Amino acid sequence: MAQPIKTSRAYPIQIDLRDGKQATIRLMEPSDLDKIREFANKLPADDLLFLRTDITDRAVVKQWVDNIQHGNTVTLLAEIDGEVAAYASLHRDQARWTRRVGEIRINAASRFRGYGLGRRLAAEIFDLARSLGLKKVTAQMTPDQIAARAAFEKLDFQVEAVLTDWVEDRNGRPRDLLIMTHDVDGFSDRVVA
Ligand SMILES: CC(C)(COP(=O)(O)OP(=O)(O)OC[C@H]1O[C@@H](n2cnc3c(N)ncnc32)[C@H](O)[C@@H]1OP(=O)(O)O)[C@@H](O)C(=O)NCCC(=O)NCCS
Repeated sequence: MAQPIKTSRAYPIQIDLRDGKQATIRLMEPSDLDKIREFANKLPADDLLFLRTDITDRAVVKQWVDNIQHGNTVTLLAEIDGEVAAYASLHRDQARWTRRVGEIRINAASRFRGYGLGRRLAAEIFDLARSLGLKKVTAQMTPDQIAARAAFEKLDFQVEAVLTDWVEDRNGRPRDLLIMTHDVDGFSDRVVA
């Protein structure tokens, strides 16, 4: 039976951020469902436009929790003074032919941005992806998500593709999708004629 993903690192951990701020990083659990919705409801409208799924919706967060319990997703929560300040998720799907690829999604509350939390969480979840044996790790964003791009470039992610008008924001406006990837062992697949 599917089980939650086991991490090689023991959580929770305490981390130091800029300006003397400290955060606790721990694994998300089913009982965090309402905390996540609270976090989502405080996100600026602009951010909500670009969320891959509507995490203000209870059913969507419930699905997320189910994915954690089935080992398809692992999520790290960063808390500051007991409040969810950010999350980083790794999504994988062992049943598909893309099973060697994991996707990272990160999000920080606007008032906790710029303290180094996004970069630290991205590094933490990337290490986790590698420890699970994933060969390719990807992050998807719109080209104007500058901080996200900077955080992933620090981890040696490169732009693999820009898909024109691939996604639509909640206002129905088409947007380009930037796909950044990191090949853990370097490129290995080559078409042999
Ligand atoms: C991406 C995100 C999590 C980063 O969170 P954060 O805590 O502010 O990140 P950090 O403070 O670690 O900053 C990351 C890097 O981006 C840079 N950065 C931050 N805001 C920036 C801006 N507006 N312009 C240029 N660079 C910026 C920082 O300087 C930092 O680089 P550095 O470590 O060399 O200084 C946050 O911006 C966010 O939630 N964005 C919306 C969701 C999103 O884009 N998710 C990515 C899809 S996977």
